Amino acid sequence: MKASEIRSRFLDFYKDRGHEVVSSGAVIPHGDPTLMFTNAGMNQFKDVFLGREQRSYSRATSVQKCIRAGGKHNDLENVGLTARHQTFFEMLGNFSFGDYFKRDAITWAWELLIEVYGFDPERLHATVFEDDAEAHGLWLDQIGLPVERLHRLGAKDNFWSMGDTGPCGPCSEIFFDRGAEHSCGDGCGIGRCECDRFIEFYNLVFMQFDQAADGTRTDLPAPSVDTGMGLERVVMLLQEKASNYDTDLLLPVIDEVAELSGAPYQAGEPGVPHRVVADHVRALTASIADGALPSNQGRGYVLRRILRRASRYGRQLGVERPFIHGLVGKVVEILGETYPEMAERREHIERVIRSEEESFNRTLDRGLALFDEVAEAAVEAGRAMISGADAFRLYDTFGFPVDLTQLMARERGLGVDMESYSACLLEAQRVSAGGRAFKPTSLEGHATIDEPTSFVGNDLSVSVDAAVLSATNTELIIDHTPFYAEGGGQ
Ligand code: SER
Repeated sequence: MKASEIRSRFLDFYKDRGHEVVSSGAVIPHGDPTLMFTNAGMNQFKDVFLGREQRSYSRATSVQKCIRAGGKHNDLENVGLTARHQTFFEMLGNFSFGDYFKRDAITWAWELLIEVYGFDPERLHATVFEDDAEAHGLWLDQIGLPVERLHRLGAKDNFWSMGDTGPCGPCSEIFFDRGAEHSCGDGCGIGRCECDRFIEFYNLVFMQFDQAADGTRTDLPAPSVDTGMGLERVVMLLQEKASNYDTDLLLPVIDEVAELSGAPYQAGEPGVPHRVVADHVRALTASIADGALPSNQGRGYVLRRILRRASRYGRQLGVERPFIHGLVGKVVEILGETYPEMAERREHIERVIRSEEESFNRTLDRGLALFDEVAEAAVEAGRAMISGADAFRLYDTFGFPVDLTQLMARERGLGVDMESYSACLLEAQRVSAGGRAFKPTSLEGHATIDEPTSFVGNDLSVSVDAAVLSATNTELIIDHTPFYAEGGGQ
């Protein structure tokens, strides 16, 4: 079954059950400062779940473009290494806004999988939140799922929220067992390992709460349903492929990578660069089509990091010229009918990627040479770390985002001294008067601090040592922060 048919069968199934077919929202969530990228099908319905927005329908179905490359849901580090992770993916979903709840969500999900997609019921497992006796009972009594294929798990696995705030609730996930030959060994099992034997591919969230920033939860106006099925995963299962990357959604892009680079594709470890580049060009195409641009801030910097990672993997394939923009056409060929904005903006996307590639290419080789030098020196000296000063030089002079340096270090069994990297970065920011994003505050009743708080979140991770400049019961002013206040604090 082709991916396009899997998409349309899903939408038709739920349309026949009274759902409005809604187009994908943008992958850049304009208007939601709590999110960097759209990370789930429910994002565009967030205010409907919260009762802040009314629609003419109480059931919806969609195929949503998603990116998980930052924030609460982040798959960037797994890309290319597992069979089932990408940064860009499509999510099939059905939603109820105070209409049906657990019973219909579970019954229809099962009917779709068995009757429409033809899954072998013997190979399906389900999980439920440990306290959710109702969902447990529905799987047992209504579906007849044997208890040995029904698993009760804790909040880490079976309580879903889109971010630190917003709609959330217990969930029930459906897994496919690909067979013992995919097992990772004795510890293999649902809720026990992360290997590619049991593939989670359909998540039914029973939305019940709105979570506030302080962690407290209030009831939603009405119990609701938010489901998500990863398209690439279900396509992999139905096309009986070893990995998402072998499906008709991704393999043609990988073949194009092989064609343009002259490096044949192989499964497993040698194919990591092909898979990463194929994933990253899809994420770049989708986000640039929706108005994002690589830059030094916020999500623009995530795009720049994604592109620079891809460029560096291109070097591993022996490609020295800019070539990632040359893959956009193939991505558009596969996705352009479903997402016409990608086809309409194809030339713009190619131009943006090309110019980014050209600019990074100017320093990439010298940066790689410096990295080789410092990595070899570290190994020879018996050090397990690349120094912070070297990582900072790679960033400052050669444009290597620090997570790229960390990735390359990991490949050699090394780490990066992030503490001293942070110190170098802070020192550089202190010296540079130009990098100030924030103005001093002088509102009545607030402390007045002459030095602006310096924002370090682009390059450090989420923690940094900072000095307290002023503190009251309601206000804390520090000299450095990883929280991006101007963008909502994410
Ligand atoms: N929001 C849930 C998820 O992303 C179900 O769609 O898994």
